[in-house]
Amino acid sequence: MNWVVLGIWVLVVIVGWYWWWRMMSKQMIMKMNKNLKEETGGEIPKGSSGWPFIGETLDFIACGYTSRPVSFMDKRKPMYGKVFKSHLLGRPIIVSTDPDVNKVVLQNNGSIFVPYYPKSITELFGKSSILQMNGNLQRRVHGLIGGFLRSPQLKTRITKEIEMSVDLTMETWKDKQLIYIQEETKNITFPVLVRVLMSVSPGKDLDFLRREFGEFIKGLVCLPIKLPGSRLYKSLKAKEKLLKMVRKIVEEKKMKMDRGHERGSTVTDAADVLLSDSGEANEMQGLPLDFISGNLIEMMIPGEDSVPMVMTLAVKYLSQCPLALQELTEENMELKRQKTPLCEDYTWTDYMSLPFTQNVISETLRMANIINGVWRKALKDVQIKGYLIPKGWCVLASFSSVHMDEDNYENPYQFDPWRWQQGKQGNNNNSNCFTPFGGGQRLCPGLELSKLEIAIFLHHLVTRFRWVVEEDYIVNFPTVKMKRKLPITVTPIYSSS
Ligand code: HEM
Repeated sequence: MNWVVLGIWVLVVIVGWYWWWRMMSKQMIMKMNKNLKEETGGEIPKGSSGWPFIGETLDFIACGYTSRPVSFMDKRKPMYGKVFKSHLLGRPIIVSTDPDVNKVVLQNNGSIFVPYYPKSITELFGKSSILQMNGNLQRRVHGLIGGFLRSPQLKTRITKEIEMSVDLTMETWKDKQLIYIQEETKNITFPVLVRVLMSVSPGKDLDFLRREFGEFIKGLVCLPIKLPGSRLYKSLKAKEKLLKMVRKIVEEKKMKMDRGHERGSTVTDAADVLLSDSGEANEMQGLPLDFISGNLIEMMIPGEDSVPMVMTLAVKYLSQCPLALQELTEENMELKRQKTPLCEDYTWTDYMSLPFTQNVISETLRMANIINGVWRKALKDVQIKGYLIPKGWCVLASFSSVHMDEDNYENPYQFDPWRWQQGKQGNNNNSNCFTPFGGGQRLCPGLELSKLEIAIFLHHLVTRFRWVVEEDYIVNFPTVKMKRKLPITVTPIYSSS
């Protein structure tokens, strides 16, 4: 009986508390809205703050686990519009599914909006991470990395290196029928990126980096608890080990540079680029070695996660769309027929100028939504399209909702590479509707490299193998993955490339 009374009391307290929280937050927001409306003429978007402390986080996560992670946004759009207020991961937030609002958020990096990621990410990356830094330093590092990744020197060399990595992996497929494509693609992209970043070749060091990096990356989205045994703790420990090794590599490079060579004359990887930069003429200051090492570690993420996941999902979507697979195969077979008799090497341009292959890559990027949006914080009150974002509030510019919105793409859930053909819907003029690589000053510097890697992978896959895919499904939370790592049975069609 006592338990029943206690239960009723607990219920009364919870309901009372919930009611009080709703009233208070409603009143606070109404008051804030009134003041800001008088001052700026704009209004905080409509929406709900959900439960005390947790806000609408549970529904946000629950939707993330479904096959349609944008259902969180889709449920709210009819009630509140394309930009709405919510409360996620302990913060009041404005969620934008409007491409024009997202564009303003992306274009005003630094001056109005700064990156604002969940605590586990900030803990693991540290303050000097490129994803979190701002101002001159962000522009400087972004410029250096972007300049190197787009440089003609890298372009001439990297195509061969990616081909070698693809070859090394695909050679092993001949002896085994069943492969897990999500793992195989990582075997291709991780070594390529580590080579681009710090010239580490396959061997013991690369294996060590790969092992510890796998441990580090598991903690990117987890509870921010640093106790021994916790996920975050293990990941931080892995980062310590990674830092030790990367710092050693960077130090050796620096010593070599300082010994016989002129600064800048031996630039072969991203580490060299960062080491040889001495800043603006008036600064004349090199970047600290720990800073360089930390950023090199973060830049390994696309090699273990983003690029292999796009490759994996391309295989999945193509398996479900035989017409697209046929057109892709024909286009790539044609390139192979042109190249083989001449024994000519393929160039960056050969791969990148295959129009249907590029359409397949764009369509995969649109549907895969590997980076589903960016998180920012407003440094001042800002008004966009009549919506007011108060100073200190967080904004989630959701790319996935824009990519999966039928106002922007006809039948958005259908894999349709043809929509990217010239003049067709999807290849619309509004580039704000397609932002898998972000935009503005933080537009991904690895964009071209990623597309090249995916194009080379697809070329060798469709010209050398046939495959049958096993049942599997996409898990979207915390990051995009295949539940069973996408098992496929491969059959070689040519004995060698
Ligand atoms: C399919 C693969 C990839 C996707 C979908 C992707 C996506 C993105 C997105 C959306 C951003 C913007 C983040 C923001 O605005 O806060 C970004 C930034 C960045 N990406 Fe990528 N990326 C990919 C591959 C790569 C590769 C291969 C590299 C090579 C190192 C790379 C390096 C970076 C760096 C350094 C930044 C930070 C830029 C800055 O804040 O100035 N990415 N990426």
